[in-house]
Amino acid sequence: MKVNGKHFRTIWIEDNNKSIVRIIDQRFLPHRFVVADLASVGEVAVAIKDMHVRGAGLIGAAAGLGMYLAALHAPWDEFFDQAMKHAAGLLLAARPTAVNLAWAVKKQLEALEAASTKTEKLAVAYETACHIADMDAAHCRQIGQHGLLLIEEMSRRKGGKTVNILTHCNAGWLAFVDYGTATAPIYAAYEKGIDVHVWVDETRPRNQGASLTAWELAQQKVPHTIITDNAGGHLMQHGLVDMVIVGSDRTTRTGDVANKIGTYLKALAANDNGVPFFVALPSSTIDWEIEDGLAQIPIEERGAEEVKYMEGLCNGEICKVLLTPEESPAANYAFDVTPARLVTGLITERGICKPQKEELLRLFPERKR
Ligand code: MRU
Repeated sequence: MKVNGKHFRTIWIEDNNKSIVRIIDQRFLPHRFVVADLASVGEVAVAIKDMHVRGAGLIGAAAGLGMYLAALHAPWDEFFDQAMKHAAGLLLAARPTAVNLAWAVKKQLEALEAASTKTEKLAVAYETACHIADMDAAHCRQIGQHGLLLIEEMSRRKGGKTVNILTHCNAGWLAFVDYGTATAPIYAAYEKGIDVHVWVDETRPRNQGASLTAWELAQQKVPHTIITDNAGGHLMQHGLVDMVIVGSDRTTRTGDVANKIGTYLKALAANDNGVPFFVALPSSTIDWEIEDGLAQIPIEERGAEEVKYMEGLCNGEICKVLLTPEESPAANYAFDVTPARLVTGLITERGICKPQKEELLRLFPERKR
């Protein structure tokens, strides 16, 4: 997508130096646009853990590139495999909920195993990392085209009046390599001249909606309004939301959806008010091994300081302020699970389906056991 008119992906290998991975460091957005270099798998793991890069698709792509950097620096002897296993462990420990990370690491380990010489292994690790990133972008683009049909239909039903879409957190291009998932249909609709407006949940505690989704939409000039996390239900009760589109960090084969904390409450409100609730996700986000999201999806718990402090711009500098009594403890559950029964449809790169095992397998028949 474009930043000040110039096309960027969220992560890429430096053109003139193939041992450097470059990222948009999201910690500084929306106030500063910072591009940072990562030179080792250790640096990639820190960037994922501390959320310089975040979002399901992007941490998958980062993990793929991290494995490539690990292969570049691994000793070429009997310790190569051990070094790669260590690298995989580092990346897997960085964040537990989004399954894209484990999926990308597994893809790299399988590809490396099929190669024999160091030259072959390096070539394979490079190609696999690029393939993961390119596929993520291509799938998000396709999700945009499928989701566009839903917005077009809603616009027709409303006689061309503004289609109001609510989204939570950032499932935009910053959470992937390009286009995004929840935002891809919105960008496609806007480009087609459909009158769209986005309600952007701020998404406490890290405010990915207020700082990242709003920045993205502003860059692409899509009309939007930031709302507090608790406003969605009120807007739905007053007919001000035509549909909800959110992303996912892990979706079970039965259609339960783990996404940023607070998504479940939006789904309940949507259900109560007859508002369609869509989840947009690439197939790399589907965990085909599990059926029960509530019991089987690990929910990341992050540090209490993210709840207790808020970051923002203060006299031109990014600073942190304490919101709570210093001595009060805080809990920080980063994701929740929305059961399939509250989801209207899943928007994938192969089309839209009901959140059901049979329906997912219809789109992805190669997953039938
Ligand atoms: O904690 P984050 O910012 O990495 O969370 C991921 C998300 O952006 C959301 O949960 C999103 O809706 C999922 S799609 C990438």
